[in-house]
Amino acid sequence: MSDSPSVSFSITPGGRLRGRIRVPGDKSISHRAVMLGGIADGDTEISGFLEGEDTLATLAAFRAMGVRAEGPSHGRLVIHGVGRDGLSAPAGALHLGNSGTSMRLLAGLMAGQSFNVELTGDASLSGRPMRRVTDPLADTGAVLHASEDGTPPLRIQGGTGLRGILYDMPVASAQVKSCLLLAGLYAQGRTCVSEPAPTRDHTERMLQGFGYRVVREPGRVCLDGGGILTGMNIDVPADISSAAFFMVGAAITEGSDVLLEHVGINPTRTGVIEILRLMGADLSVVNERQVGGEPVADIQVRSSRLRGIRIPERLVPLAIDEFPAVFVAGACADGETVLTGAAELRVKESDRIQVMADGLRALGVDASPTPDGMRIKGEPLSGGEVNSHGDHRVAMAFAMAGLRARDTVVIEDCANVNTSFPGFASLARHAGLDILVEPSPYG
Ligand code: S3P
Repeated sequence: MSDSPSVSFSITPGGRLRGRIRVPGDKSISHRAVMLGGIADGDTEISGFLEGEDTLATLAAFRAMGVRAEGPSHGRLVIHGVGRDGLSAPAGALHLGNSGTSMRLLAGLMAGQSFNVELTGDASLSGRPMRRVTDPLADTGAVLHASEDGTPPLRIQGGTGLRGILYDMPVASAQVKSCLLLAGLYAQGRTCVSEPAPTRDHTERMLQGFGYRVVREPGRVCLDGGGILTGMNIDVPADISSAAFFMVGAAITEGSDVLLEHVGINPTRTGVIEILRLMGADLSVVNERQVGGEPVADIQVRSSRLRGIRIPERLVPLAIDEFPAVFVAGACADGETVLTGAAELRVKESDRIQVMADGLRALGVDASPTPDGMRIKGEPLSGGEVNSHGDHRVAMAFAMAGLRARDTVVIEDCANVNTSFPGFASLARHAGLDILVEPSPYG
């Protein structure tokens, strides 16, 4: 859990969302900018950096390994890269808080160093599966130890020497792919990773931006070890995963009309747009442009009547972080929404299938969890009390549900919203959500 004192959100009905909104920077891109900037030659200047607890944990880890950085301040961060082999041994374990991305990507990067490292996390991260990275890393010659059940802490031995591998990922995971590519930078020979379905490709794009040769074919990415990265400027777009809460909030609430500015619309991340459109949302993507190797646009959403759908499984990896918000859309739609093929949701920051089903039921919705998804019957939401189980995205999804509830919705355990979306409550209030942040009575 977050170290911040426990807080709850209280949403009073009657709000609607209006105006121009710029949500904070993309979490995935911000993590990668620090990691690649840290091991590049020269400086990397980042704007739009997400100053959330997760990405700050990555930054603190690189500072602990001798990387100097100025900022972040108002999203500006300058990383003075130490070069491919310039990281130094940290004085103690690297604490990565709630951040699965930090831990899984660093596992690969650390396997290539000359020193030993221990990676730790909070209670939620300490329960998340790490064999998906430790098993293939062991095939590269890395020596890593996790707990007996395959969870953190991870102890990684330095100086072992890595070799390139060909890895066919059993699950579609950008974290696993990125972990192996980062290890591959330090491996002898070629590393290739095949994915069963497209996953976010920010690592590949950014490596190319840093001047590293990456060979990309449909379903497969390869690189040769031993090259160098050259510092660059990175403009981080607003995070579509954070924008998704406002898309759903506006779609489900009569009289809403929001313009979400400068949102990253990398095609490996836009599943939520497709899903909401299939549900009948009034959503337009305008002013499309390229910013530093990533597509960006403004997204306008007006309220409309949504209909329940069977979510196409091919969209699951492309909307993997947006299902808490999508479930809320399903609860406000006419008819039934059915999700299958999404068992991965059970091993996110919380078990998002169970925790969302419990919360929706607490609001009077007929939601049935299944092993790999959920069935939700859209119906009027009552008020009630919901527990987010310290999951940032669950907390924000239920905050938007409060727009459509008959009575007040209270959401417990919301401090971790700061991991990905600092300032969420004030931005949402500014847009028209009647949200109060209170110290939790159950603190
Ligand atoms: C991320 C990949 C996704 C996503 C996570 C961020 C990344 O995880 O859920 O929030 O930055 O690579 P998986 O790749 O494990 O699905």
